[in-house]
Order: sequence, then structure tokens, then C-alpha cells
Amino acid sequence: MIFKGLNKYLSFSSLIILGLTATLLISLPAISQPANITLRDLAQEQNFHIGAAVSIKALRNDPTYREVLAREFNMVTPENVMKFKPIHPERDRYDFTAANEIVAFAKANQMQIRGHTLVWHRSLPDWLTETEWTREELMEILRRHIFTVISHYRGDIYAWDVVNEAVGGKDSLRKTIWQQGIGSDYVELAFRWAHEADPQALLFYNDYDGEGLGEKSDAIYSLVKDLLAKDVPIHGVGLQMHKSIKNPPKPEDVATNIKRLGELGLEVHITEMDVQIHNGTGTQEERLVKQAKVYQDILGVCLKAPNCTAFVTWGFTDKFTWIPRAFGQPDFPLIFDKSYRPKPAYQALVEVLSTANH
Ligand code: G3I
Repeated sequence: MIFKGLNKYLSFSSLIILGLTATLLISLPAISQPANITLRDLAQEQNFHIGAAVSIKALRNDPTYREVLAREFNMVTPENVMKFKPIHPERDRYDFTAANEIVAFAKANQMQIRGHTLVWHRSLPDWLTETEWTREELMEILRRHIFTVISHYRGDIYAWDVVNEAVGGKDSLRKTIWQQGIGSDYVELAFRWAHEADPQALLFYNDYDGEGLGEKSDAIYSLVKDLLAKDVPIHGVGLQMHKSIKNPPKPEDVATNIKRLGELGLEVHITEMDVQIHNGTGTQEERLVKQAKVYQDILGVCLKAPNCTAFVTWGFTDKFTWIPRAFGQPDFPLIFDKSYRPKPAYQALVEVLSTANH
């Protein structure tokens, strides 16, 4: 009897305690940044695109790569497999296999896709470069290429890098197979064809070394301004942002450049960011801190600009990066280390995203 009464009393008091605890928990201020928050969660809150270039080899063979990619990013750029050579290996044959795999992965994980790239002077197949073409033939080849690739992915691609790295010196286009074989209007034609093929896709001009202020960014600015004056359908400029801690970009110059492009009505995406540390000074730890600052500055500048709508790194783990092969020495340019541990640069991006108001 006594026990029954005690039981009743205990369950009654436990209810009160439970209730009090719940009220207390609800009234506690929300923890602003739980330990397991991801870049993707934070970007999502800002309605912002955070992306990474994807290596098909890594995507196919490394489960951790897939897991981290889907967890941390809401946008992808195929690093190589949409380029002319892999996707159009023979004049009358396209090979969409690898690119389809990246598109399927992105769609399955609700990620946006940047298509990269339709018109470039590198990664061209021999069938194209080893024949002398007339202007009409080359135009037809490029038109068909653009039309076929864009149509294949119509509706799937958020933004295309239509023309890549076309600017040469001051006020002149780089002498490439396209510029020499078709003429300087190849740029304008490419954008018009791309728009015809997918009127919904955002169309970008993408380049390196024109992120801040200077001759090259002026040349890019006048190129896109001229295109707009001719009613060419171009919607944005990609600032690649391949940088190093030795020569970091000046954040205020990048901000000014993004702003002037915005005044033309153009969006900006940071499209290929990585930060080399091999040529810097200090211990490895000090270099990684300097690297973090460069990432932090650029994401900060982008988030402050209303027309800067995506921030994409060129890979995300030091396990898979083009830099050591291209520069002939080890380097660690990305935000996760080779074992997928977040580096100071990752923490820096988390911090900027947590405090931003895009
Ligand atoms: O796919 C072949 C493979 O079949 C072959 O066995 C192997 C042997 O070397 O080469 C493989 O192709 C390489 C490809 O990357 C895939 O790994 C090419 O040789 C190599 O030149 C290519 O390099 C890429 C480069 O663009 C040229 O397309 C880099 O990975 C890629 O990061 C780099 O990306 C460019 C952007 O598209 C534009 N902006 C600059 C950026 C860095 O250069």
C-alpha cells in the first residue's frame, strides 16, 4: 500500500521534473553552431551555392570521397569529363558515360551542377586539332558540339562555363584554334548557340588571373561589356581563383571587380578556388593558417556581394588535386587533408558562413 502510494508520488514527481526540463530546454537559446554542422547546411541557410570540382576517378573509387562531397557541398563541377576531348572523342561520337555519372550523383544528392566547359583551347581531341578546317567547317563543328552537349543535359545544368580562358593580352583574344579558325566573333556565337540549346541555363565566361583589378580583369570586363552591348546572352563571369599564399589576391580589389560586374547586371561565381602553399614561408602549420585566411577573405567578399552567388573549390581534398602534378612538387591546396580531416581553411569557411548575411 505504502509502496503503491510512493510509486504514484514518484511517477507524479518524475512528470513534473520531465516537464520542467523540457521547458528549460525549449527556453535555452539555440546553439548557434553545433559541432557537426556542415558547409552545406550553412550555405543552405544563406540560400548560397557551395561547390567543389569532382574527379570522376575519385567518385568511382573512393566511398569517403562520395560521402564528404554530398555532405559538405550543394553544387558540383565535373573537373574534366565534360571537356571537349573526353565528351566528344570522335567527330561523330560523343561519350557521356563519365559526365552522366557525375550528373546522376549530383541529382541523387540534390546538388546543382556547373557545366565545364564548352569552348576552350585545351583538352581538344586529335581529330579536331590535326585537321585544317575552313571557317564554315569549324563553325559547324563548334555549333554542333555546343548544341549536342547542352541539349543532352538540358534542364540539369544550373550554369555553363560556355567560354573558358579566351582573353589573351590587353584587349585581345588568345590565339586559339577557335579565334584563328573562326575569328573573334566565336565568343559571341558560342553564347548565342548555348542559349538556343538551353534557354534556362545561366551562361558564364570563366577565366583565371582576372579576379582582382589589373590589365586582365579590365580585358575580361570589356569583353563581357561588349557582349552585353550586342545583346549576347551572357549571365555571369567565373573568377577561377587559383591562388597561392605567396601572392594572395587583394580582397578589396576582388570586391571592386565583383561590384563592377554586378553593375553590368552580371552574376559572379568563384569557380575553381585552390590555394598553393609550397611557395610560401613558415612552418607547415603557419602556411595552413595563411591559406585559411585566403579562403576566408574570398568567401567573405563573395558573401558580401549580392551578385556573387556561388563559391566552388577545385577539388576538396588534398588527396585529389591537379596542383602537385602541374607544379612538379607536393602541395596541399584544398580544405580537407588527404585523410578527409578538415583543415584550418575548412574551419575558416565555416566561420564566414556562420556569420554571413548573404
Ligand atoms: O584521362 C587521361 C587518362 O586517360 C590518362 O591515362 C592520363 C595520363 O596522363 O591523362 C588523363 O587525362 C588528364 C586529365 O587531367 C584527367 O586526369 C590529362 O592528362 C591532364 O592534362 C588533365 O589535366 C586537367 C587540366 O585541367 C587540363 O584539362 C586537370 O586535371 C584539371 O584540374 C585542369 O582544370 C583546369 C580547368 O579546367 C580550367 N582552369 C584551369 C584548371 C587548372 O589547370
